[in-house]
Amino acid sequence: DDAASVPVRRLSDWDAAELHTLVEDYGSPLYVLDLERVRENYRRLETAFPDAEILYAVKANALGDVLSTLHEAGAGLECASAGEVQRALEAGASGSEIHYTAVNPPARDLDWIVDAWADEPELTVTAGSADTIDRLEERGYDGRLCLRVNPGIGAGHHEKVKTGAAAKFGVPAERAVDVLADAADRGFDVVGIHAHVGSGVSSDQLDAHREFVARMGGLARSVADAVGGLEFVDVGGGFGVPYREDETPLDLESVAETTRDALGDVDADLTIEPGRYFVADAGVLLTEVNTVKEARETTVTGVDAGMTTLLRPAMYDAYHPIRNLTAETAGDGSSDRDATDAAGREIVPQTVAGPICESGDVFCAERELPASERADILAIGNAGAYGYEMANQYNTRPRPASIVLADGQARLARRRETVTDVTRPEREARGVSDTSS
Ligand code: LLP
Repeated sequence: DDAASVPVRRLSDWDAAELHTLVEDYGSPLYVLDLERVRENYRRLETAFPDAEILYAVKANALGDVLSTLHEAGAGLECASAGEVQRALEAGASGSEIHYTAVNPPARDLDWIVDAWADEPELTVTAGSADTIDRLEERGYDGRLCLRVNPGIGAGHHEKVKTGAAAKFGVPAERAVDVLADAADRGFDVVGIHAHVGSGVSSDQLDAHREFVARMGGLARSVADAVGGLEFVDVGGGFGVPYREDETPLDLESVAETTRDALGDVDADLTIEPGRYFVADAGVLLTEVNTVKEARETTVTGVDAGMTTLLRPAMYDAYHPIRNLTAETAGDGSSDRDATDAAGREIVPQTVAGPICESGDVFCAERELPASERADILAIGNAGAYGYEMANQYNTRPRPASIVLADGQARLARRRETVTDVTRPEREARGVSDTSS
């Protein structure tokens, strides 16, 4: 249908008045996620990659509603921890729909996974080192095994997310044949090879992506020869989405075509596992202005969300679009962007900053926005991927509430944390109850 074919939903496409009401009902800061948009993103990916197995990389947004929505739509789930596998099972996925990607896995993760495998024998474990394979064997695991390789090529929106070139991930591609031939000899059911080039791959990095997939194709042929066939080649995720209003989205059809071409005539299924692509533009973060001040060189707009709520700007200098919903809906009460003028707000360069005691706790510097006033509600766009997932409790700051939009309704999906939630593990350690603290 129409909406599903729209490659990107911009922050400007959201209805200001509707979002404003959500803060009145649920408080601030507030994560909002539109499950219908998540479904549309899935459908677009499925259309572009009709023959591929599509897994959702749970790490981008592990909210149970997201997992069940994508699972019902037909996606499998790629999990980075035992906790994520637990979520995937709770969302209704069966072992055959779950890939567990072990990155230096803690012992308790492997223990949990091997236990779960007893009930879900079709689970796939992707090991990133020979050590992980040994540790699986020690626990009696001889199920479906995939090997994560390090292709030596990275791409992505920031050095910190170019996983394909980072030493910590995978077995160097040139050692993959030996490692997997050995695993097959030891009785593992060798089913695939895997690699992830990086996250936020943009259209100008597609050459690197193509070279990466070509290497995977070559490797798949050698591995298949060595172990007597491969079920799948998993080329990871990484599809970038536009964060700036003027950025052009990836042409998914051409990515799919070059991926298939680069893979060549490999006799194995193609598996992809994007995360960001499904959820980034389905989410916004709403936050209330509590301070407006003239600082020495800029106007500072203080808000109640911070780097503990949305870490990406502080961690990667990531750009997120911002709108002032109150300015837009003031005056004539319309949600039209032109209402900015109706509200008579001047456009002022401003630094939007959070409540955390770090100078890096800013969402933007000197961004031209309608002059902010105390109690205004701002919307921060493209917050659906790696938003709540990377939120933390630094400064004893409870994490925000999340609501989902589904069937034309807003519904609380995860309540706001309280300070009592943050301090509970300490009381539990002392054996006292919440009320006696
Ligand atoms: N598969 C594997 C093995 C991965 O490591 C990742 C992401 C994905 C799939 C999904 O990548 P995506 O399609 O979402 O790009 N926190 C960073 C992103 C880190 C991604 C790490 N791995 C950010 O906020 O940009």
